[in-house]
Amino acid sequence: MRFRAAIVVLAVSFTGIGLEFWRPVAPAVAGDELGTAVPVVTLPGVGDDESLYSYVGNKKCKKCHIKQHKSWEKTRMANAFEILKPGNNKEKKQEFKLDVEKDYAKDEECIKCHTVGFGKPGGYITPDPEDKKAVRKATKLEGVGCECCHGPGSAYIEVFEEILKSKRKYKVEELYAVGLRKIDETVCIACHNEESPSVNPGDPFDYEKRKVDGIHEHYPLKQREE
Ligand code: HEC
Ligand code: HEC
Ligand code: HEC
Ligand code: HEC
Repeated sequence: MRFRAAIVVLAVSFTGIGLEFWRPVAPAVAGDELGTAVPVVTLPGVGDDESLYSYVGNKKCKKCHIKQHKSWEKTRMANAFEILKPGNNKEKKQEFKLDVEKDYAKDEECIKCHTVGFGKPGGYITPDPEDKKAVRKATKLEGVGCECCHGPGSAYIEVFEEILKSKRKYKVEELYAVGLRKIDETVCIACHNEESPSVNPGDPFDYEKRKVDGIHEHYPLKQREE
């Protein structure tokens, strides 16, 4: 984790924040220049080490994607944190032999799949209830949020902002290069697997079907080029 944090800091300080952020950078080189021992990191691209980017929370996405946000709010995944609290979803908890009175919202074994980016840069951390700022930040990362599927947003939202302002066309690959994920079944199976007490081992995840039930409504993109 320490190395990862160092890489993020180096990547940020070497590229500068703002519109230049999206330019492809090789953080390993940045580290070498300082003479520090940085583990080899692949160039940003599809399927890369996402620890280069940090989680920003749903609210940031809402600003530009109100429709998707509104529709997402109605999905069960948006509410995935609430159900962990004591007393909620009694029947399901009994069915899965969970303790109805236990506060699973503080249990790391559960929140890793019921929050955004748990344990990763910018992601969910259980806040100290006295620390109001930490509580506010954590609230924005509760449930299965935008970045659980789309990937940590710190760098690609900067590019989207520039795309929005310049009104130019874009190719999605340029966003994939800075942390936006190309979504397929593997994104879902990271959580929808047998490690979850509610997943029945005999009932494999049906991506095509559940993609329709579970995500959010889709709206046409105007600036994207095929
Ligand atoms: C590996 C990821 C993962 C872990 C770990 C995990 N969950 Fe979940 N949980 C899920 C997924 C995915 C679903 C949705 C399953 C479905 O309906 O197919 C779910 C659903 C649930 C539900 C059912 C909600 C409903 O009303 O249908 C409850 C309750 C729940 N989880 C509680 C817990 C608790 C308590 C823990 C910790 C002991 C936990 N989960 C750990 C991924 C996880
Ligand atoms: C970060 C973990 C995580 C990821 C990634 C994730 N899910 Fe979920 N999903 C959950 C949890 C937790 C629930 C249970 C929410 C609840 O019941 O309140 C859930 C619930 C659902 C449900 C509603 C439950 C049902 O049986 O109808 C659907 C559908 C679903 N997910 C589809 C998907 C699809 C499709 C993907 C990938 C594109 C995906 N999920 C990715 C954690 C995740
Ligand atoms: C459970 C996974 C999941 C979650 C959570 C999720 N999305 Fe998506 N989103 C998808 C999938 C799948 C697509 C279809 C495009 C694709 O396959 O890459 C998509 C498409 C989009 C698109 C393209 C236009 C459209 O409407 O299809 C936008 C914009 C978007 N999502 C924004 C968001 C925002 C904002 C949030 C949070 C409020 C969010 N998404 C939450 C899975 C998810
Ligand atoms: C400053 C505004 C802005 C913010 C903030 C923003 N986006 Fe976008 N996003 C855009 C624009 C503009 C497009 C392209 C829309 C179009 O073509 O009509 C886009 C497109 C997308 C697409 C579709 C990509 C494709 O071509 O398949 C996804 C997915 C997406 N955004 C997810 C997110 C998520 C998740 C967040 C939060 C982490 C986010 N966006 C934050 C402006 C923004």
